[in-house]
Amino acid sequence: MSKAIIPAFSISDNPAEISASLDEAGCAVVQGMFSEEQCAQMRAELDPHLEHALYADEDQTADFYPAKTKRITGLVARCPAVRELAMHPVTTALCDHHLLPNCEKYNLHVTAGLIVGPGARSQVLHREEDPFDYFPVPRPNLVIASMAALTEFTADNGGTLLAPGSHRWQQGRVAEDSETVPAEMPQGSMLFWLGGTLHGAGANITQDWRHGVILSYSLGWLRQEENQYLNLPDDVLADLSDELKDRIGVTMHGSLGLYDPRVRGSKSQMSLPKNLTS
Ligand SMILES: [Fe+2]
Repeated sequence: MSKAIIPAFSISDNPAEISASLDEAGCAVVQGMFSEEQCAQMRAELDPHLEHALYADEDQTADFYPAKTKRITGLVARCPAVRELAMHPVTTALCDHHLLPNCEKYNLHVTAGLIVGPGARSQVLHREEDPFDYFPVPRPNLVIASMAALTEFTADNGGTLLAPGSHRWQQGRVAEDSETVPAEMPQGSMLFWLGGTLHGAGANITQDWRHGVILSYSLGWLRQEENQYLNLPDDVLADLSDELKDRIGVTMHGSLGLYDPRVRGSKSQMSLPKNLTS
């Protein structure tokens, strides 16, 4: 059996090549996606929240999230530096290619700071599309996920484990150890994977915390994993660009997501949807 490989690219590579590789392997790493300054800004905004995040010190076998890992969500509000990353042109090109065939527009699905501490076990392999299990795998593309490396990701510090090609597997097929590989990437890289690809955080056998930010995107007619609307205070929403508002999903998808901005008052600065007359 050939060794499992995660295709690797740099920011200067043609997004069409990255898309083709993502189609084939179900995952890809792109280096140089954000600068050291952007990284430092994200750390400065996230770390105070992560410092106070509750986490388990001992594993309960039934837990989806391993002990010694921390998570915070609501990053559009809590971490302004993430907003630019959520609109990254490479991410947009990949989402356009993989999601637009199945929808009119796609939305930000979940935002989270995920850090893996010393001694954390590996996470059970799963698919981001598992909440949509009314449809058997392999499913059409519903979700694309990305993980930004705010610190280097290695095989030893909790680098995300993936089973390349598993987005095409039939229901019930379990990944052998030889079919999984850790995403190793320097700070500033982003790992992309399709919602059908088996993956999970790796174990951390080092003495350092591994810092990552997950941003995922889903078809505009699906229920988002994160309730972006409740995670966005009015004054934050009012400050966002129209493009980011659209990506968060406050705008309509066809006839779905009807709203009347007059209900919330002027703070949200939303325009009337086109099918709502005043
Ligand atoms: Fe996941």
